Amino acid sequence: MNILLIGSGGREHALAWKMAASPLCDLLFIAPGNPGTARCGVNVAMDVANHDDVIAFCASHDVGLVVVGPEGPLVAGLVDDLLAAGIKAFGPTKAAARLEGSKAFTKELCREAGIPTADYARFDALEPALAHVYAHGAPIVIKADGLAAGKGVVVAQSLEEAEEALEMMFAGGLGAAGAEVVIEECMVGEEVSFFALCDGKTALPLASAQDHKRVGDGDTGPNTGGMGAYSPAPIMTESMAEQVMASIIRPTMAAMARRGTPFTGILFAGLMITEDGPKLIEYNTRFGDPECEVLMPRLQSDLVAALLAACDGLLANVGLRWRDDAALTVVMCGRGYPGTPEKGAVIHGLEVAEALDGVLVFHAGTAEQGGLITANGGRVLNLVGLGDTVAAAHARAYAAVDAIRWDGGFCRRDIGWRALT
Ligand code: AMP
Ligand code: GLY
Repeated sequence: MNILLIGSGGREHALAWKMAASPLCDLLFIAPGNPGTARCGVNVAMDVANHDDVIAFCASHDVGLVVVGPEGPLVAGLVDDLLAAGIKAFGPTKAAARLEGSKAFTKELCREAGIPTADYARFDALEPALAHVYAHGAPIVIKADGLAAGKGVVVAQSLEEAEEALEMMFAGGLGAAGAEVVIEECMVGEEVSFFALCDGKTALPLASAQDHKRVGDGDTGPNTGGMGAYSPAPIMTESMAEQVMASIIRPTMAAMARRGTPFTGILFAGLMITEDGPKLIEYNTRFGDPECEVLMPRLQSDLVAALLAACDGLLANVGLRWRDDAALTVVMCGRGYPGTPEKGAVIHGLEVAEALDGVLVFHAGTAEQGGLITANGGRVLNLVGLGDTVAAAHARAYAAVDAIRWDGGFCRRDIGWRALT
């Protein structure tokens, strides 16, 4: 079968690497892809926002499955249009992707289904929002309702910080995403990413992972898309995973089905493990990036077969096998990230890193110019280490980092610290 993968990040390189290894995969196309995915299949320059172009490409290249990596095309309804054109597509419909596209929608659904999450209130004007903040005090969490590329959440430690965030959002600092704001109680605990593969009725738990959102060592500085991750997360024991499935994932699946918008795709729950048990921070409706880069190397089963079973509503018959090994990825970024990153510098040492034992390199924001790989984004490279333990995976990932020579590249030096201490 020919497969088209949509996206261009480290997540998509990891997915392309895993799908290309499937006996079910004949030709793999990636749109638009990156220099890393080009080694797993054929990159296609295509405007994926133009759904007619995507459909035409599928028809002319005999594509039997489209896999959508990032949230943008999901929220824009790419899966709906592909399905309407008779093309099998993995990912939620536009209506189901609202679990990620609208924080307010998800909070309403949690309230309706009794899913544990932070208390919240919604506002569409500055004055009442400020009054709410003054009444509750800090710390308090301010969120833009819409998609804001990971930059729409401020965990305000003081009233001044909360005021500043609200003023910025209502002044249009995040565009339309900030027209409505959700204000939440600040939860305390350990964060973990939990993934489930869903077919509309059945949810199959995948492995857990721990992300590192802050840009600086010791979890300091502004939030980013994710600076590194490891899997499995020791806090996600089997009984904790069952608790998450029973109190969060399955009630969500049931509520979505009741609303006539069953969820098919990857349900990614950002969780806070509090003293009162696991609580939902937010949903994403796709694989996490960089979590995907540590899940794919641990997955023993055929990913393509599992995604097809999800598309066909047949997950009840599927079991997935995982390696016991741990995986850890360190994300290397261009100086300036999460602000404006420096671009254009040549990255040396990639072959050296790739040749190391137990190391995989997944590209994200790279470009290829005259046979050289250059930095072309905020998050640029994933150096993934595999090992018997998180400590062993950590050592291998950082050995790979140290093989890279890139003027202007930086990374956190403490990825995995929770599992290592
Ligand atoms: P989100 O984009 O909703 O995942 O939020 C980004 C980050 O903000 C999360 O990974 C948490 O670290 C933090 N966060 C969001 N909501 C809360 C909350 N209610 N309590 C504490 N921390 C939160
Ligand atoms: N790593 C968090 C995300 O993909 O949203």
